Amino acid sequence: MALKTLDQADLTNKTVLVRVDFNVPIQNGNVADTSRIEAVKPTIEYLLQHNCKIILCSHLGRPEGNKNPEFSLKQIVSSASKILGHPIGFCAEPQTELVKNALVKNQIILLENTRYYPGEEANDKTFAQQLASLANVYVNDAFGASHRAHASTEGVTKFLPSYAGKLVEAEINALSKIREGSPKPPFTFVIGGAKIDTKIGILKNFIDKADNILIGGALANTFLAAAGFNVAESKVETDKTAIAQEIMLLAEKHHGRLLIPVDVIVADEVSNTTLTINIPVEDVLGNMKILDIGNKTIETYSEIIKNSATVVWNGPMGLYELEPFQNGTKMIAEAIANSPCKSYVGGGDSVDALAKLNVDQTKFTHISTGGGAMIEYIEGNKMPGLEPLMD
Ligand code: 3PG
Repeated sequence: MALKTLDQADLTNKTVLVRVDFNVPIQNGNVADTSRIEAVKPTIEYLLQHNCKIILCSHLGRPEGNKNPEFSLKQIVSSASKILGHPIGFCAEPQTELVKNALVKNQIILLENTRYYPGEEANDKTFAQQLASLANVYVNDAFGASHRAHASTEGVTKFLPSYAGKLVEAEINALSKIREGSPKPPFTFVIGGAKIDTKIGILKNFIDKADNILIGGALANTFLAAAGFNVAESKVETDKTAIAQEIMLLAEKHHGRLLIPVDVIVADEVSNTTLTINIPVEDVLGNMKILDIGNKTIETYSEIIKNSATVVWNGPMGLYELEPFQNGTKMIAEAIANSPCKSYVGGGDSVDALAKLNVDQTKFTHISTGGGAMIEYIEGNKMPGLEPLMD
Protein backbone atom coordinates (compact mmCIF):
# COMPACT_ATOMS: atom_id res chain seq x y z
CA MET A 1 0.00 0.00 0.00
CA ALA A 2 1.33 3.40 -0.94
CA LEU A 3 0.71 6.75 0.66
CA LYS A 4 -1.40 9.32 -1.16
CA THR A 5 1.07 12.16 -1.53
CA LEU A 6 0.79 15.83 -2.38
CA ASP A 7 1.75 15.36 -6.02
CA GLN A 8 -1.48 13.35 -6.49
CA ALA A 9 -3.67 16.12 -5.07
CA ASP A 10 -5.56 18.83 -6.90
CA LEU A 11 -4.28 21.74 -4.86
CA THR A 12 -4.11 24.86 -6.99
CA ASN A 13 -5.97 27.76 -5.34
CA LYS A 14 -7.48 25.43 -2.73
CA THR A 15 -7.88 25.99 1.00
CA VAL A 16 -5.92 23.25 2.72
CA LEU A 17 -6.23 22.12 6.32
CA VAL A 18 -2.79 20.91 7.41
CA ARG A 19 -2.47 18.91 10.62
CA VAL A 20 1.00 19.61 11.99
CA ASP A 21 2.65 18.46 15.19
CA PHE A 22 3.53 21.77 16.85
CA ASN A 23 3.59 20.04 20.24
CA VAL A 24 6.91 21.72 21.01
CA PRO A 25 8.66 22.48 24.32
CA ILE A 26 8.09 26.06 25.45
CA GLN A 27 10.46 27.64 27.96
CA ASN A 28 9.99 31.21 29.21
CA GLY A 29 7.57 31.86 26.38
CA ASN A 30 10.02 30.68 23.69
CA VAL A 31 10.04 27.53 21.59
CA ALA A 32 12.95 25.57 23.03
CA ASP A 33 13.24 23.06 20.19
CA THR A 34 12.11 24.20 16.75
CA SER A 35 12.78 20.98 14.82
CA ARG A 36 9.11 20.02 14.50
CA ILE A 37 8.30 23.43 13.01
CA GLU A 38 11.28 23.34 10.63
CA ALA A 39 10.24 19.88 9.49
CA VAL A 40 6.94 21.08 7.95
CA LYS A 41 8.66 23.67 5.74
CA PRO A 42 8.72 21.48 2.60
CA THR A 43 4.94 20.97 2.78
CA ILE A 44 4.21 24.64 3.42
CA GLU A 45 6.46 25.72 0.55
CA TYR A 46 4.81 23.22 -1.79
CA LEU A 47 1.35 24.50 -0.87
CA LEU A 48 2.42 28.13 -1.26
CA GLN A 49 3.77 27.32 -4.73
CA HIS A 50 0.29 26.03 -5.56
CA ASN A 51 -1.25 29.26 -4.32
CA CYS A 52 -3.13 27.53 -1.51
CA LYS A 53 -4.62 29.13 1.56
CA ILE A 54 -3.23 27.20 4.50
CA ILE A 55 -4.97 26.46 7.79
CA LEU A 56 -2.56 24.88 10.23
CA CYS A 57 -3.92 22.92 13.18
CA SER A 58 -2.15 21.11 16.00
CA HIS A 59 -2.33 20.12 19.62
CA LEU A 60 0.04 21.44 22.28
CA GLY A 61 0.42 19.48 25.50
CA ARG A 62 -2.53 17.78 27.16
CA PRO A 63 -5.10 20.43 28.22
CA GLU A 64 -7.81 17.71 28.23
CA GLY A 65 -10.59 19.73 26.66
CA ASN A 66 -9.96 22.86 28.74
CA LYS A 67 -8.92 26.25 27.39
CA ASN A 68 -5.86 26.52 29.59
CA PRO A 69 -3.67 29.45 28.36
CA GLU A 70 -0.52 27.52 29.31
CA PHE A 71 -1.22 25.38 26.25
CA SER A 72 -2.23 28.12 23.81
CA LEU A 73 -0.68 27.83 20.36
CA LYS A 74 -0.69 31.62 20.18
CA GLN A 75 2.67 31.41 21.97
CA ILE A 76 4.35 29.87 18.97
CA VAL A 77 2.95 32.08 16.17
CA SER A 78 5.93 34.42 16.02
CA SER A 79 8.54 31.58 16.06
CA ALA A 80 6.61 29.66 13.43
CA SER A 81 6.37 32.76 11.20
CA LYS A 82 10.13 33.25 11.43
CA ILE A 83 11.00 29.61 10.87
CA LEU A 84 8.59 29.14 7.97
CA GLY A 85 9.59 32.50 6.49
CA HIS A 86 6.01 33.62 6.06
CA PRO A 87 3.61 35.68 8.20
CA ILE A 88 1.13 33.48 10.07
CA GLY A 89 -2.21 34.70 11.38
CA PHE A 90 -3.89 33.21 14.43
CA CYS A 91 -7.50 32.12 14.77
CA ALA A 92 -8.77 31.48 18.29
CA GLU A 93 -11.79 29.35 17.29
CA PRO A 94 -12.27 26.94 14.37
CA GLN A 95 -15.38 28.77 13.15
CA THR A 96 -16.11 29.39 9.49
CA GLU A 97 -16.50 33.19 9.64
CA LEU A 98 -13.47 33.72 11.89
CA VAL A 99 -11.30 31.49 9.73
CA LYS A 100 -12.47 33.21 6.54
CA ASN A 101 -11.66 36.64 7.94
CA ALA A 102 -8.27 35.48 9.18
CA LEU A 103 -7.47 34.06 5.74
CA VAL A 104 -8.26 37.40 4.11
CA LYS A 105 -5.44 38.96 6.13
CA ASN A 106 -2.95 36.06 5.93
CA GLN A 107 -2.32 33.24 3.47
CA ILE A 108 -1.35 31.00 6.38
CA ILE A 109 -3.22 30.86 9.68
CA LEU A 110 -2.82 28.71 12.78
CA LEU A 111 -5.86 27.50 14.69
CA GLU A 112 -5.90 27.35 18.48
CA ASN A 113 -4.94 24.06 20.20
CA THR A 114 -7.24 21.29 18.94
CA ARG A 115 -7.15 19.72 22.43
CA TYR A 116 -8.99 22.75 23.83
CA TYR A 117 -12.07 20.93 22.52
CA PRO A 118 -13.21 17.63 24.07
CA GLY A 119 -14.27 16.51 20.57
CA GLU A 120 -10.63 16.26 19.48
CA GLU A 121 -9.49 13.35 21.64
CA ALA A 122 -12.96 11.77 21.59
CA ASN A 123 -12.64 11.75 17.78
CA ASP A 124 -16.09 13.27 17.75
CA LYS A 125 -17.75 13.27 14.33
CA THR A 126 -19.26 16.76 14.73
CA PHE A 127 -15.91 18.30 15.69
CA ALA A 128 -14.18 16.50 12.80
CA GLN A 129 -16.86 17.80 10.42
CA GLN A 130 -16.43 21.31 11.81
CA LEU A 131 -12.69 21.19 11.06
CA ALA A 132 -13.28 19.67 7.62
CA SER A 133 -15.83 22.36 6.71
CA LEU A 134 -13.05 24.99 6.86
CA ALA A 135 -11.13 23.61 3.87
CA ASN A 136 -11.26 21.75 0.52
CA VAL A 137 -8.34 19.39 1.12
CA TYR A 138 -6.75 17.82 4.21
CA VAL A 139 -3.04 17.15 4.59
CA ASN A 140 -1.54 15.20 7.48
CA ASP A 141 1.99 16.39 8.18
CA ALA A 142 1.87 15.44 11.86
CA PHE A 143 3.72 12.14 11.91
CA GLY A 144 4.26 12.63 15.65
CA ALA A 145 0.50 12.56 16.30
CA SER A 146 -0.46 9.90 13.76
CA HIS A 147 -0.66 7.14 16.37
CA ARG A 148 -3.66 9.00 17.82
CA ALA A 149 -7.21 8.42 16.54
CA HIS A 150 -8.29 12.00 17.10
CA ALA A 151 -10.65 14.27 15.16
CA SER A 152 -7.82 16.25 13.56
CA THR A 153 -5.75 13.19 12.65
CA GLU A 154 -8.34 10.57 11.73
CA GLY A 155 -11.94 11.83 11.99
CA VAL A 156 -11.42 14.65 9.52
CA THR A 157 -10.20 12.30 6.76
CA LYS A 158 -13.76 10.96 6.42
CA PHE A 159 -14.95 14.32 5.13
CA LEU A 160 -12.14 15.64 2.90
CA PRO A 161 -9.80 14.30 0.22
CA SER A 162 -6.76 13.48 2.38
CA TYR A 163 -3.06 13.29 1.62
CA ALA A 164 0.24 12.78 3.39
CA GLY A 165 2.48 15.84 3.64
CA LYS A 166 6.19 15.82 2.80
CA LEU A 167 7.27 15.27 6.43
CA VAL A 168 5.02 12.23 6.79
CA GLU A 169 6.26 10.91 3.45
CA ALA A 170 9.91 11.25 4.53
CA GLU A 171 9.25 9.57 7.90
CA ILE A 172 7.51 6.60 6.27
CA ASN A 173 10.24 6.21 3.65
CA ALA A 174 12.90 6.07 6.36
CA LEU A 175 11.10 4.04 9.03
CA SER A 176 9.17 1.53 6.92
CA LYS A 177 12.44 -0.37 6.43
CA ILE A 178 12.46 -1.18 10.14
CA ARG A 179 8.71 -1.72 10.41
CA GLU A 180 8.46 -4.09 7.47
CA GLY A 181 11.63 -6.09 7.44
CA SER A 182 13.77 -7.26 10.24
CA PRO A 183 16.37 -4.61 10.81
CA LYS A 184 19.85 -5.73 9.85
CA PRO A 185 21.46 -7.50 12.84
CA PRO A 186 23.09 -6.94 15.22
CA PHE A 187 20.14 -4.74 16.10
CA THR A 188 20.48 -2.62 19.24
CA PHE A 189 17.71 -0.71 20.90
CA VAL A 190 18.82 2.08 23.24
CA ILE A 191 16.06 3.25 25.53
CA GLY A 192 16.01 5.90 28.23
CA GLY A 193 13.83 8.72 29.48
CA ALA A 194 11.61 8.75 32.47
CA LYS A 195 8.52 6.60 32.28
CA ILE A 196 8.36 2.85 31.99
CA ASP A 197 4.61 2.97 31.20
CA THR A 198 5.12 4.49 27.77
CA LYS A 199 7.95 2.07 26.98
CA ILE A 200 6.54 -1.29 28.09
CA GLY A 201 4.99 -2.07 24.70
CA ILE A 202 8.16 -1.50 22.74
CA LEU A 203 10.37 -3.22 25.30
CA LYS A 204 8.22 -6.35 25.15
CA ASN A 205 7.95 -6.14 21.39
CA PHE A 206 11.67 -5.75 20.80
CA ILE A 207 12.77 -8.42 23.25
CA ASP A 208 12.79 -11.14 20.61
CA LYS A 209 13.78 -8.79 17.75
CA ALA A 210 16.66 -6.82 19.26
CA ASP A 211 20.03 -8.42 19.87
CA ASN A 212 20.71 -5.87 22.59
CA ILE A 213 18.50 -3.61 24.68
CA LEU A 214 20.48 -0.93 26.52
CA ILE A 215 18.64 0.84 29.30
CA GLY A 216 19.41 4.27 30.75
CA GLY A 217 17.66 7.35 32.12
CA ALA A 218 15.28 7.30 35.06
CA LEU A 219 13.82 4.20 33.43
CA ALA A 220 17.00 2.37 34.43
CA ASN A 221 16.36 3.20 38.10
CA THR A 222 13.16 1.16 38.02
CA PHE A 223 15.07 -1.75 36.47
CA LEU A 224 17.85 -1.40 39.07
CA ALA A 225 15.26 -1.45 41.87
CA ALA A 226 13.63 -4.50 40.24
CA ALA A 227 17.02 -6.23 40.16
CA GLY A 228 17.33 -5.69 43.92
CA PHE A 229 19.67 -2.67 44.04
CA ASN A 230 19.19 0.14 46.51
CA VAL A 231 18.40 3.23 44.41
CA ALA A 232 18.21 5.44 47.52
CA GLU A 233 16.47 8.74 46.68
CA SER A 234 16.49 8.30 42.91
CA LYS A 235 13.41 8.85 40.80
CA VAL A 236 11.84 5.42 40.57
CA GLU A 237 8.42 4.00 39.69
CA THR A 238 8.07 1.63 42.63
CA ASP A 239 4.72 0.37 41.37
CA LYS A 240 6.35 -0.72 38.10
CA THR A 241 9.17 -2.91 39.41
CA ALA A 242 7.10 -6.05 38.78
CA ILE A 243 6.77 -5.10 35.11
CA ALA A 244 10.50 -4.42 34.92
CA GLN A 245 11.15 -7.86 36.42
CA GLU A 246 8.80 -9.46 33.89
CA ILE A 247 10.68 -7.72 31.05
CA MET A 248 14.04 -8.90 32.40
CA LEU A 249 12.75 -12.49 32.64
CA LEU A 250 11.37 -12.32 29.11
CA ALA A 251 14.75 -11.10 27.86
CA GLU A 252 16.45 -14.05 29.55
CA LYS A 253 13.98 -16.45 27.98
CA HIS A 254 14.68 -15.08 24.50
CA HIS A 255 18.42 -15.02 25.13
CA GLY A 256 18.37 -11.32 24.28
CA ARG A 257 20.84 -9.07 26.02
CA LEU A 258 19.06 -6.55 28.22
CA LEU A 259 21.63 -4.38 29.91
CA ILE A 260 21.12 -2.07 32.85
CA PRO A 261 23.81 0.30 34.17
CA VAL A 262 26.68 -1.15 36.20
CA ASP A 263 27.73 2.27 37.43
CA VAL A 264 26.00 5.61 37.78
CA ILE A 265 26.50 9.32 38.40
CA VAL A 266 24.96 10.32 41.71
CA ALA A 267 24.42 13.60 43.54
CA ASP A 268 22.48 14.56 46.62
CA GLU A 269 20.85 17.52 44.94
CA VAL A 270 19.51 18.21 41.46
CA SER A 271 21.25 21.42 40.40
CA ASN A 272 23.80 22.79 37.99
CA THR A 273 26.38 23.33 40.71
CA THR A 274 26.06 20.12 42.67
CA LEU A 275 29.01 17.78 43.20
CA THR A 276 28.73 14.39 41.53
CA ILE A 277 30.46 11.03 41.89
CA ASN A 278 30.68 8.02 39.62
CA ILE A 279 30.05 4.85 41.64
CA PRO A 280 29.12 1.20 41.05
CA VAL A 281 25.37 0.63 41.34
CA GLU A 282 25.85 -1.53 44.43
CA ASP A 283 27.32 1.46 46.31
CA VAL A 284 24.26 3.72 46.02
CA LEU A 285 22.92 4.61 49.48
CA GLY A 286 21.68 7.30 51.85
CA ASN A 287 20.31 10.40 50.15
CA MET A 288 21.98 9.77 46.78
CA LYS A 289 20.07 10.32 43.57
CA ILE A 290 21.04 8.51 40.37
CA LEU A 291 21.03 11.13 37.60
CA ASP A 292 23.11 9.66 34.76
CA ILE A 293 24.83 6.49 33.63
CA GLY A 294 28.47 6.06 34.64
CA ASN A 295 31.71 5.68 32.65
CA LYS A 296 31.88 1.87 32.66
CA THR A 297 28.30 1.66 31.44
CA ILE A 298 29.06 4.22 28.73
CA GLU A 299 32.05 2.15 27.64
CA THR A 300 30.07 -1.11 27.45
CA TYR A 301 27.09 0.46 25.69
CA SER A 302 29.36 2.32 23.22
CA GLU A 303 31.20 -0.88 22.30
CA ILE A 304 27.91 -2.65 21.58
CA ILE A 305 26.70 0.33 19.52
CA LYS A 306 29.96 0.38 17.55
CA ASN A 307 29.46 -3.28 16.60
CA SER A 308 25.77 -2.95 15.69
CA ALA A 309 24.37 -2.78 12.17
CA THR A 310 21.16 -1.06 13.26
CA VAL A 311 20.52 1.17 16.27
CA VAL A 312 17.23 2.70 17.35
CA TRP A 313 17.49 5.28 20.14
CA ASN A 314 14.63 6.71 22.17
CA GLY A 315 15.07 8.66 25.39
CA PRO A 316 18.06 10.33 27.11
CA MET A 317 20.43 8.42 29.38
CA GLY A 318 20.32 10.96 32.21
CA LEU A 319 19.08 14.38 33.26
CA TYR A 320 20.76 15.95 30.20
CA GLU A 321 19.10 19.33 30.82
CA LEU A 322 21.63 19.97 33.63
CA GLU A 323 25.33 20.12 32.85
CA PRO A 324 26.56 17.68 35.57
CA PHE A 325 24.34 14.91 34.16
CA GLN A 326 24.83 15.39 30.42
CA ASN A 327 27.76 13.13 29.79
CA GLY A 328 25.92 9.81 29.45
CA THR A 329 23.48 11.13 26.85
CA LYS A 330 26.22 12.98 24.95
CA MET A 331 28.60 10.00 24.84
CA ILE A 332 25.89 7.55 23.77
CA ALA A 333 24.62 9.99 21.12
CA GLU A 334 28.19 10.34 19.81
CA ALA A 335 28.74 6.59 19.88
CA ILE A 336 25.64 6.18 17.70
CA ALA A 337 26.66 9.06 15.41
CA ASN A 338 30.15 7.61 14.93
CA SER A 339 29.09 3.98 14.51
CA PRO A 340 28.89 2.71 10.93
CA CYS A 341 25.38 1.42 11.77
CA LYS A 342 22.09 2.63 10.35
CA SER A 343 20.79 4.87 13.14
CA TYR A 344 17.28 6.03 13.95
CA VAL A 345 16.52 8.56 16.68
CA GLY A 346 13.09 9.57 17.94
CA GLY A 347 11.42 11.29 20.85
CA GLY A 348 11.33 14.99 21.62
CA ASP A 349 13.89 14.73 24.43
CA SER A 350 16.43 12.75 22.43
CA VAL A 351 16.21 15.17 19.52
CA ASP A 352 16.40 18.15 21.89
CA ALA A 353 19.46 16.56 23.54
CA LEU A 354 21.23 16.23 20.17
CA ALA A 355 20.82 19.96 19.61
CA LYS A 356 21.69 21.00 23.20
CA LEU A 357 24.76 18.77 23.38
CA ASN A 358 26.04 19.79 19.93
CA VAL A 359 25.97 16.32 18.45
CA ASP A 360 26.34 16.30 14.66
CA GLN A 361 22.82 15.46 13.49
CA THR A 362 23.94 14.79 9.92
CA LYS A 363 25.62 11.59 11.11
CA PHE A 364 22.29 9.85 11.85
CA THR A 365 20.40 7.89 9.22
CA HIS A 366 17.09 9.38 10.32
CA ILE A 367 15.95 11.71 13.07
CA SER A 368 12.22 11.30 13.57
CA THR A 369 9.83 14.06 14.61
CA GLY A 370 7.82 11.36 16.37
CA GLY A 371 8.33 10.07 19.90
CA GLY A 372 5.52 7.65 20.72
CA ALA A 373 4.55 7.67 17.05
CA MET A 374 7.95 6.48 15.89
CA ILE A 375 7.90 3.70 18.44
CA GLU A 376 4.37 2.60 17.53
CA TYR A 377 5.17 2.73 13.85
CA ILE A 378 8.30 0.62 14.02
CA GLU A 379 6.53 -1.78 16.38
CA GLY A 380 4.15 -2.46 13.49
CA ASN A 381 1.09 -1.09 15.30
CA LYS A 382 -1.94 0.44 13.64
CA MET A 383 -1.50 4.13 12.88
CA PRO A 384 -4.99 5.67 12.77
CA GLY A 385 -3.72 8.92 11.26
CA LEU A 386 -1.85 7.18 8.45
CA GLU A 387 -4.26 4.46 7.42
CA PRO A 388 -6.73 6.84 5.72
CA LEU A 389 -3.81 8.21 3.65
CA MET A 390 -3.11 4.86 2.02
CA ASP A 391 -4.09 4.32 -1.58
C1 3PG B 1 4.43 13.78 20.88
O1 3PG B 1 4.97 14.77 21.40
O2 3PG B 1 4.91 12.64 20.95
C2 3PG B 1 3.20 14.00 20.04
O3 3PG B 1 2.96 15.33 19.82
C3 3PG B 1 2.00 13.31 20.63
O4 3PG B 1 1.65 13.89 21.85
P1 3PG B 1 0.71 13.10 22.87
O5 3PG B 1 1.52 11.94 23.40
O6 3PG B 1 0.30 14.08 23.91
O7 3PG B 1 -0.46 12.57 22.06
